[in-house]
Amino acid sequence: MDSAPLLEVQSVRKSFSKPDGGELFVLDNVNLTLREGEIVGLLGRSGSGKSTLLRLIAGLSRPAGGSIIYLGQTLDGPPPGIAMVFQSFALFPWLTVLENVELGLEALGLPREETRRRALAAIDMIGLDGFESAYPRELSGGMRQRVGFARALVVHPNVLLMDEPFSALDVLTAETLRTDFLELWSKGQLPIRGVILVTHNIEEAILMCDRALVFATNPGRIVSEIKVDLAHPRDRLDPAFRDLVERMYVELTASRTAERPAARPERFAGAGIGTILPRISSNLLSGLLETVAAPPYDGQADLPVIAASLNMEIDDLFPVAETLQMLRFAEVAGGDIRLSPEGRRFAEADTDERKRLFAHHLLTYIALAAHIRRVLDERPSHQAPWRRFADELEDHMSPEAAEQTLRAVISWGRYAEIFAYDDHTQIFSLENPS
Ligand SMILES: Nc1ncnc2c1ncn2[C@@H]1O[C@H](COP(=O)(O)OP(=O)(O)OP(=O)(O)O)[C@@H](O)[C@H]1O
Ligand SMILES: [Mg+2]
Repeated sequence: MDSAPLLEVQSVRKSFSKPDGGELFVLDNVNLTLREGEIVGLLGRSGSGKSTLLRLIAGLSRPAGGSIIYLGQTLDGPPPGIAMVFQSFALFPWLTVLENVELGLEALGLPREETRRRALAAIDMIGLDGFESAYPRELSGGMRQRVGFARALVVHPNVLLMDEPFSALDVLTAETLRTDFLELWSKGQLPIRGVILVTHNIEEAILMCDRALVFATNPGRIVSEIKVDLAHPRDRLDPAFRDLVERMYVELTASRTAERPAARPERFAGAGIGTILPRISSNLLSGLLETVAAPPYDGQADLPVIAASLNMEIDDLFPVAETLQMLRFAEVAGGDIRLSPEGRRFAEADTDERKRLFAHHLLTYIALAAHIRRVLDERPSHQAPWRRFADELEDHMSPEAAEQTLRAVISWGRYAEIFAYDDHTQIFSLENPS
């Protein structure tokens, strides 16, 4: 704790130019110190600039103001000794495990045998022994991410940057990888001196970090810090652990309300991101719209009467009507449903026009749908895992409600063709959204 910090981020600012010519301020006056032997966590909602900060630290882009000091020197381009692990693994599919790991060493220009020796050692350490000649597609997600770790660790970096490294993995695989990583780290077996970990997962931050920093959005800045003074291995059920999770939760919630109102994306008059969505199929929604639009109702009807005519329980019909209201296709009041002009248009439209109309309303009035689409649009891979959004929703609701809500938005998103979701890989994407 006596030595100079590994890394100092000093009053860093960053902005991007917007397509309309304006400036988007992404980071404002960010200060952060990483000391020898520390794991520091970064949390904060989507768009608060966490990945941007990691890219600045990795030397992949330059700050607009302030400086980044690495081992006493101002950073100027990607330094040797800072390595990154990505959420998306970022492996080359045409290279074997060994070749992917060796690639991490290419820039160092080591002799051939030295490269091979170090790659094999990293592969062995991270639990990939025996998979040297396998190709990424032959590996499970967890094994692929082990390759991602091996490729970063093989350079023996001083600082390891991790951008949501576990969030593309299923719960059990993620936990195994975290535990393996922490065990190696605690025993001093990893060739690294400090870690910065970006995560959306509060428990992961408390499990792994010595300190966790909370970012607020617009512009991204650090608003609080939580110190985690628990010995490893940590027990998630330990009351002290639970207390920290609770505190973190409170800080994250506060960081959201601390956001500058003008910059808040809550122009949505429909369902905010914390709204639990009901699982109502698009078939049911269009069915009710058609029924109400047709004679004898002609756009307005008594819900119990409709329920009787459709042979439905009123308790089953009500959520359908409320969903139409949320989507601004109808208004519900005093047991009556009345279609909006768009609701009528929908009822009269053909399939393609219906999809277009539905997509527009989904993106305008259901914040979660717009959010998922925005994240997919912004990511170079145009992909994001289920966990990415589930973690975020679980800040607002129970895991069961988060699951239901994601299922609902997936089925509507598929119908509207605004994004795709693969049930097997649990990945959202923009590929063939149908
Ligand atoms: N190269 C770029 N050009 C323009 N805007 C950018 C660029 N990179 C990031 N941004 C914007 O900067 C903001 C912060 O993005 P960043 O990816 O750092 O957020 P994040 O906190 O990592 O979010 P997430 O939790 O979704 O990963 C976003 O509004 C994003 O659109
Ligand atoms: Mg990010």
